[in-house]
Amino acid sequence: MSCLEVQPIKTQNTPERGGEFLVCHCHGVTEGDIRLAIAETGASSVEEVSIRTRAGTGCRACRCKLSRILSGLPADCGRFGLCQHCGFAEVLCACSAA
Ligand code: FES
Repeated sequence: MSCLEVQPIKTQNTPERGGEFLVCHCHGVTEGDIRLAIAETGASSVEEVSIRTRAGTGCRACRCKLSRILSGLPADCGRFGLCQHCGFAEVLCACSAA
């Protein structure tokens, strides 16, 4: 199956790194890492979080998740989140790990 084929929608992303939601695939940064950086440094913008964690400094696909966290929302974008394994939008992803 290719990642471009439609598959049933999951309600939550697969946990990664000890059960924490992996927000930035490029740099392996979890939601917990980001929330800790915000709490410890007072980072209040995507740019500040990126400087402190490196999240969002690669392909930039996770920057919407950084915004969600900064807005007090869960990082997971639900059905429009990225597959934790292949990086395609889950609504399109059908890789064997999804
Ligand atoms: S997934 Fe975060 S920069 Fe690429």
